[in-house]
Amino acid sequence: MNIPTILLGITLLFLPTSPVLASKKPPPDSPENKANVKCLDCHRTTNPQLVHDWETSAHSRNGVVCAHCHGLDHTTAEDVADVRLPTPETCQSCHEEQFKQFMKGKHAFGWASMNAMPTTHQLPMALAEGQKGCGGCHKIGPKPPEELARLRKQGSGFGHAACDSCHTRHAFSKKEAQQPQACQTCHMGFDHPQWEMYSTSKHGVRYSLKQLGVLGEQASAPKCQTCHMQDGNHEVRTAWGFLAVRLPLPEDPQWKADQITILQALGVLDPEGKPTKRLDVVKAADVARLTKEDFDRERKKMLDTCSRCHSREFAEGELKKGDDMIRQADRLLAEAIRIVAGLYKDGILEKPANYAYPFPDLLTFHDAPRPIEQRLFVMHLKHRMRTFQGTFHANPDYALWYGWSEMVRDLAEIKEMAEALREKHARQHKAAADDRAPAREARREATEPQS
Ligand code: HEC
Ligand code: HEC
Ligand code: HEC
Ligand code: HEC
Ligand code: HEC
Ligand code: HEC
Ligand code: HEC
Ligand code: HEC
Repeated sequence: MNIPTILLGITLLFLPTSPVLASKKPPPDSPENKANVKCLDCHRTTNPQLVHDWETSAHSRNGVVCAHCHGLDHTTAEDVADVRLPTPETCQSCHEEQFKQFMKGKHAFGWASMNAMPTTHQLPMALAEGQKGCGGCHKIGPKPPEELARLRKQGSGFGHAACDSCHTRHAFSKKEAQQPQACQTCHMGFDHPQWEMYSTSKHGVRYSLKQLGVLGEQASAPKCQTCHMQDGNHEVRTAWGFLAVRLPLPEDPQWKADQITILQALGVLDPEGKPTKRLDVVKAADVARLTKEDFDRERKKMLDTCSRCHSREFAEGELKKGDDMIRQADRLLAEAIRIVAGLYKDGILEKPANYAYPFPDLLTFHDAPRPIEQRLFVMHLKHRMRTFQGTFHANPDYALWYGWSEMVRDLAEIKEMAEALREKHARQHKAAADDRAPAREARREATEPQS
């Protein structure tokens, strides 16, 4: 092979995009491009800042104009109602590759999994549907056409584009989406404080020092995307997922028993251990990995990522610690669930109307009826999450003080509450028996044969 052939080979290797996968650049004389002067004429006045953002974008530089995304049906102040508001399919027409990857990942299930929660339907519409509350974050999941039609009929206008979650409109910037802050608004707070955990971990601190220019461009510091969007892949998915349950169940007998108890409290298995309708939801919304191969595939991807900077042995050991914290957290949570389940079984607590079984239902969230069930909900969704999420995200304080330590406290308090409930029940039972005693006495006297 001579030098020019080698050079050609190298050049081909580094050609950035193959023609099939490249974004579609529209021809400059398309009807959309011709209409653009008009669009800009008005919108420079109505929303100058918005137009400015578009002007700074790769779209503007490549001839992608307002009407490519918003259609040509609205061109005057009177026909605003005819405007098209984009959905992910709008972007798909030019970005097939990212669309396909995105649809295979967990984000694509955001809307479906939110709707599967019993609690969603008891919330004010503004919180569930709008850019607030559950819907404010779960809008990252595209809606099927029927659902979109139903929402639009109810008056819902915006928030259906999903792809603008990380590269916001109208800059649609790749650079913005590459920063960890792009994930911050959603991955924070009560049950998934990944931002807080990451940004205060050594990983996050080093990355922020890079952003501030203290550490150089080449300094190694992973961001969310390094570990969760390897090589820019939009298929975002992890081995354990949010709930940290999986099939097949763990081999360790104690852990297996604990995960079964948790699956019962998630309503995926009924109190007898048989699968319920919720298992179908779990499957449909990709809530848990259902085979060993599926889990191992995600785990391997992660391990390969850590190994770019750490030794494989170091990384394997760190990930195992995450798994082990799930096992240990499950010990505490399963015990607490069994205590509350025992209260239903012994008739100390009545089955709440919104529960399918006389068994704790963790998915009713804050609609859990009484303090003991509320406490169990917090133990699961806040503290168990922090315990293992903090471990995986290399954040000692979240794993220990905000996670594990709180779980130990939850269990102690649940035990105490259960005991108090049992005592109260026994007292009430005795009082009722005492109340009935004179009546029984009278009945006995009335029915005793007179001698
Ligand atoms: C004659 C002026 C005019 C022209 C031309 C015009 N628009 Fe508008 N557009 C408006 C006004 C007024 C509104 C309503 C603004 C508001 O509610 O603040 C609007 C709203 C919109 C909205 C938001 C819809 C909503 O429900 O809030 C989009 C998107 C839009 N225009 C896109 C376009 C596109 C694309 C073009 C070119 C094909 C265009 N406009 C041409 C005046 C115009
Ligand atoms: C690459 C696609 C794309 C292009 C190009 C585009 N938009 Fe948009 N636009 C969107 C998306 C996505 C939304 C959000 C829709 C939603 O929330 O449902 C939006 C929303 C809007 C809104 C209403 C929401 C708001 O924030 O006020 C207006 C007005 C608007 N666009 C005007 C324009 C104008 C004017 C242009 C051209 C300068 C333009 N758009 C170019 C994708 C685009
Ligand atoms: C008419 C075709 C077309 C449509 C529709 C379209 N894009 Fe693009 N997009 C392009 C072209 C062309 C480029 C520039 C070339 C490239 O980066 O491949 C681009 C670039 C981008 C980039 C990279 C920006 C950067 O800073 O490098 C992002 C992100 C993007 N588009 C997101 C979107 C999203 C989100 C939507 C839907 C709301 C959308 N696009 C709709 C054609 C389109
Ligand atoms: C608009 C809100 C929003 C933004 C922005 C967002 N996410 Fe998410 N993310 C979600 C929601 C909602 C889910 C849960 C999806 C579901 O319900 O199935 C999720 C799930 C995930 C998962 C879950 C994996 C699993 O296996 O269950 C990962 C990892 C993730 N996101 C990473 C990221 C990263 C990295 C970024 C930034 C580049 C990001 N997300 C930006 C809302 C968001
Ligand atoms: C601040 C943004 C935000 C809000 C508000 C929010 N979520 Fe989420 N939700 C997320 C993120 C991010 C994830 C993924 C977290 C993870 O995997 O650690 C998630 C995960 C979930 C999951 C698990 C999905 C799965 O398959 O693993 C369900 C179900 C869910 N949310 C329902 C809801 C409901 C119902 C509400 C309202 C009561 C709500 N969420 C409010 C951001 C949010
Ligand atoms: C969870 C955050 C997130 C969401 C949601 C998201 N993107 Fe991206 N997008 C990114 C990141 C991060 C990059 C930069 C990837 C890289 O470093 O190569 C990117 C890059 C892109 C690019 C530029 C690709 C290139 O290499 O030039 C396009 C086009 C794009 N995204 C389109 C989309 C479309 C279409 C959707 C919806 C189907 C979408 N994105 C949803 C985070 C996201
Ligand atoms: C150094 C790599 C790394 C970085 C950086 C990182 N994560 Fe993670 N993340 C992980 C690992 C490891 C897991 C657990 C994977 C598994 O289940 O095997 C995880 C899990 C998750 C999950 C699923 C639930 C959980 O927390 O266990 C979400 C959601 C998530 N990360 C979001 C984020 C977000 C958002 C950021 C940035 C703010 C981020 N991660 C930064 C490595 C990382
Ligand atoms: C882009 C490079 C990079 C990647 C990828 C990365 N790390 Fe790190 N990690 C670092 C650097 C740099 C430090 C700081 C080292 C120090 O404190 O001296 C660090 C620190 C840590 C620490 C804190 C303890 C210590 O030794 O300082 C843990 C735990 C850790 N990483 C685990 C992981 C795991 C697990 C993964 C994969 C999920 C991962 N890292 C991926 C660069 C990386």
